[in-house]
Amino acid sequence: MSNSVLIADDDHSLRLVLSAALDKAGYHTVKARSGKEAIDFVQKDEFDVILLDIFLGDADGLELIEPIQKLNPTAAIIIITGHGTTQTAIDAAKQRAYSYLTKPIDLKHLLDLVSRAASATSQTRNVKAAITSIDADGKGKMVGQSAAMQAVYQIIGRAAVSDETVLIMGESGTGKELVAELIHQNSPRSDNPFVVVDCSAIPPSLIESTLFGHVKGAFTDAHTDRKGKFEQADSGTIFLDEVGELPIDVQMKLLRVLQERKIEPVGSNETRPVNVRIIAATNRKLDTAISQKTFRDDLYYRLNVVPISLPPLRERKEDIPELIDLFTSRFAQEYQLPKIGISAETIKKLIEYEWPGNVRELENAIKRALVMCSGQMLLTEHFSQIFDKPISGSTTDNQNPNQQIHALLQGEVERYLESDVDAGQLYAAIRSIFEKPLFKIVLEHTGGNRSKASEILGINRNTLHTKLNEYDIK
Ligand SMILES: Nc1ncnc2c1ncn2[C@@H]1O[C@H](COP(=O)(O)OP(=O)(O)OP(=O)(O)O)[C@@H](O)[C@H]1O
Ligand SMILES: [Mg+2]
Repeated sequence: MSNSVLIADDDHSLRLVLSAALDKAGYHTVKARSGKEAIDFVQKDEFDVILLDIFLGDADGLELIEPIQKLNPTAAIIIITGHGTTQTAIDAAKQRAYSYLTKPIDLKHLLDLVSRAASATSQTRNVKAAITSIDADGKGKMVGQSAAMQAVYQIIGRAAVSDETVLIMGESGTGKELVAELIHQNSPRSDNPFVVVDCSAIPPSLIESTLFGHVKGAFTDAHTDRKGKFEQADSGTIFLDEVGELPIDVQMKLLRVLQERKIEPVGSNETRPVNVRIIAATNRKLDTAISQKTFRDDLYYRLNVVPISLPPLRERKEDIPELIDLFTSRFAQEYQLPKIGISAETIKKLIEYEWPGNVRELENAIKRALVMCSGQMLLTEHFSQIFDKPISGSTTDNQNPNQQIHALLQGEVERYLESDVDAGQLYAAIRSIFEKPLFKIVLEHTGGNRSKASEILGINRNTLHTKLNEYDIK
């Protein structure tokens, strides 16, 4: 079957020239004279390639990209720009569309680009099918039919077939690692290693040698040469999880790897070429880290070639029933139990809940509920851990100190999971929760004597003074 191309341009003669050239090359073409006509066509049919003029009589081509993508999520859109097109519009076209063509159109270039776009579309369709295809337990690997997730599948499809660096952003538990795996599994590198590095879990002093390896004698414990994660991932994909946690000096070295595709093991002064596709993830807002100078902006731009934002679960509640179904059948199979039902009231409450820990929290809640449940049906009581927990900020004086601390800690952790704060701020908040009552107790004991108090606390007087001001203790 021939590939279909929609030509949306208000210029009559250009429409004729383009369609003649494409028809001759064996494409099936359809012509739209306006934005409205273009939308009408994509509503009726699924095209492989869409040529979209940036200035259509009745519409701005750039603004049509989104509605067209909603209706034809796999079509490759090529924007046609003119002499007068501003750089900003060209940049926008580059970001949102498959590619762009500049007038006057070189027909050989057109045919070449349309042919590449058509094969990208068919690859994207294959990948999309694979992402939501049925896995061993009869369920999709990644589920959720919300518009937000549909858009994510589409980018995964495109990212998988390109070899570009991907930056996955999303709160904790939104599926960042799953997305990275799917990109790798559906990429031409799928037969080669997928190596995961959690940048937040490695002590700073070991990060460089973990990533890039070291040679014998590079430091006291380096008894032999050791390959780093980049070399282990050679020909495959490396997944740099929590990339925002990399120390600034290592960021500089990673930037060099991205630019030169070469690594330098610790203690060696020679470089080695590596062929690795990089996927990074972060649950922190990197722009804050950039403005605080804890993350290099040049590295950010190098990583953020294909950005993928995973929406929090509370913004796509329509996906919750399908996820519940996925996890109940998956665990039933894992624990070799018959699949268990779930009451309508429970589903309703699970949909109402805000899920600060996103899909991971839902997955764990269901696992816990199945362990608690001895009957045939999951009920709200099996989810008491999440439904009964105190709402953050609800600390009242009639709670005992233990409950108060618990509620405060929970509030801070939730704020952190919702990505309002970064790890540093979380630690500071947790420290203050414990320090404040502790300082009060010690000061009461010493009758307000600050020298004595600082001695007991093992901190110097100035530090104590600063902290008392900070915590507003008189
Ligand atoms: N759309 C989805 N469909 C099915 N399972 C999902 C989906 N999203 C996430 N999961 C599952 O939820 C769990 C958490 O996902 P994952 O580990 O990829 O999240 P993450 O964003 O990397 O989280 P964290 O920041 O906590 O590391 C995994 O078990 C994953 O398989
Ligand atoms: Mg993760």
